[in-house]
Amino acid sequence: MKTRIFALFMFSSLLFMNSCTEEDDVIPPVATATPATQTITSGSVTSITLTSTISGTTYSWTVVQSGVSGATAGSGSSIAQTLTLTGAIAGTATYVITPTGNGTKGSPVSVIITVNPGIVIVNYTSNIKPLLVNSCTPCHVAGGSNPKWDNYATAKSNINGILDRVQRESSAAGFMPVGGPKLSAANIALLKKWVDDGLLEN
Ligand code: HEC
Repeated sequence: MKTRIFALFMFSSLLFMNSCTEEDDVIPPVATATPATQTITSGSVTSITLTSTISGTTYSWTVVQSGVSGATAGSGSSIAQTLTLTGAIAGTATYVITPTGNGTKGSPVSVIITVNPGIVIVNYTSNIKPLLVNSCTPCHVAGGSNPKWDNYATAKSNINGILDRVQRESSAAGFMPVGGPKLSAANIALLKKWVDDGLLEN
């Protein structure tokens, strides 16, 4: 009788120990994103493959985008999203991916995508005129009393002055647009790219 009770005690404590050890032993997945950084052209698709040390791992991600649109939070074993620049200069999307495997979450890994402008040539008619007419109305368009930026030849011959004025501090004398907000970095970059691309009309 005594032995039986003792045996039962041993058996149950063994079970107890076992279950404790198993819980402590859950190994979280270690995720790898391939590649860990990627550079793409605006309008093209990311191509990131997610793998882990534990088979059956699932992945979910969040993303912060800067100067880029099209990146969204999601899940799956690869990230294939079309990213497009919101301005003329490069932007980024930073994905933070969390793996779940063995019923537990592993440490997040991050991937930085750099999005570069495509080889688009800036021209006056499509890019610069809409920007200047929109930002410099009514003072610099037909009917206003200042040089007319809705005229290609005038805008082209005044581009150095335009770049000078829009890059001043908004509190500085001569800042343009008078009474308006400072042009965005993307729009200033667009004006500079117009110069670099040869001040084309079309
Ligand atoms: C509310 C009216 C107003 C708006 C809006 C405005 N300007 Fe002007 N701008 C003026 C006036 C007035 C002058 C002349 C006084 C001076 O030179 O500061 C001027 C002069 C200039 C000059 C110098 C021209 C010369 O003859 O040398 C440049 C360059 C210029 N503006 C660029 C811009 C640009 C670029 C924008 C839009 C992003 C803009 N301005 C928006 C009123 C305006």
